[in-house]
Amino acid sequence: MNYKLIPMQVFGDKRGKLVSLESRRNVPFQIKRVYYIFDTLPEEERGKHAHKNLEQIVIAIDGSCQLVLDDGASREEVWLNRPDVGLYIGKNMWREMRHFSYGCKLVILASDYYDEKEYIRDYGEFLRCLK
Ligand code: TYD
Repeated sequence: MNYKLIPMQVFGDKRGKLVSLESRRNVPFQIKRVYYIFDTLPEEERGKHAHKNLEQIVIAIDGSCQLVLDDGASREEVWLNRPDVGLYIGKNMWREMRHFSYGCKLVILASDYYDEKEYIRDYGEFLRCLK
């Protein structure tokens, strides 16, 4: 399975807490794109795709959701519910996002610019691409 949970260092004091994300330091790739997801609803699912080459880190900076990760051989579920833990997802991983808490906020760091041609949005095609 080409994913891992990465605990981030938290700089906290009586004023609050801070996490810093840096390319090739606590983020294992050069960050080229950052996007975020908000105004989520529990009944709605997202994702349901894989990337041919893209690497990403997903962080639930507020609220929670479940990620389903699938490498074509097995399927695992991971809950994201901490702003100080990043989920690294490597290439060729099918992912689905579900069970969002109301108003969950996800920040996603990506190793490349948005390119729809780089997506695999059909699960059958994903399995064929792995061969
Ligand atoms: P989509 O891939 O469906 O989101 P998710 O992976 O969360 O299910 O993307 C939703 C829309 O946003 C789709 O029209 C493509 C667009 N989009 C961009 O233009 N740039 C981006 O960086 C991303 C991630 C999506």
